[in-house]
Amino acid sequence: MAPAAALVLGYLLGSIPFGVVLTRMAGAGDLRTIGSGNIGATNVLRTGRKGLAAATLLLDAFKGFAAVWIAERYLGGAGVIAAAAAFLGHCYPVWLGFKGGKGVATLLGIVLALHWPIGLVYAVVWIALLAIFRISSLAGMLAAISAPLSAASFSRFDLVLLLLALALIVVWKHRANIERLVGGVEPRVGSKHG
Ligand code: G3P
Repeated sequence: MAPAAALVLGYLLGSIPFGVVLTRMAGAGDLRTIGSGNIGATNVLRTGRKGLAAATLLLDAFKGFAAVWIAERYLGGAGVIAAAAAFLGHCYPVWLGFKGGKGVATLLGIVLALHWPIGLVYAVVWIALLAIFRISSLAGMLAAISAPLSAASFSRFDLVLLLLALALIVVWKHRANIERLVGGVEPRVGSKHG
């Protein structure tokens, strides 16, 4: 019963498309028709609304954190199930025809709740690479890849497979970004088209 509840709770929380909801509430249009069309904070930034982008980042991370935290404490320690469900809810939300986000912010919240040192490394990798390269997709993918590596280095071998699978999905969801990176045309954050 608890695992099923963690699955449903995780998916429902993860599938809340905060970027789309906040952008629409602010009268800035349908995020899916702007920039890359992605529903994440980087694309919200392309509307020129920094506050909305920050709120999207925090809420997308928070929903992942909350799903795991609630499941760990109140649903028989089913945090791993809630983590996978919340991540899949964000990336494949039923409300948007299963066309969701790329998972980077939600995965941050998930790893912070599963084992905070992994989340700390993730945040440092993400912020440092973003500061150096100013390419959100590159920083986000490498932060995601850091998660299974960190899990192994912190001896959380129980989390390695899950985090490896989620990191692979993050990379898969960035395949259009990877094409642009290879072609040298991926926009930088803060540039006119970034
Ligand atoms: O988290 C999403 C980010 O890594 C890339 O977003 O809009 O540039 O495809 P975007």
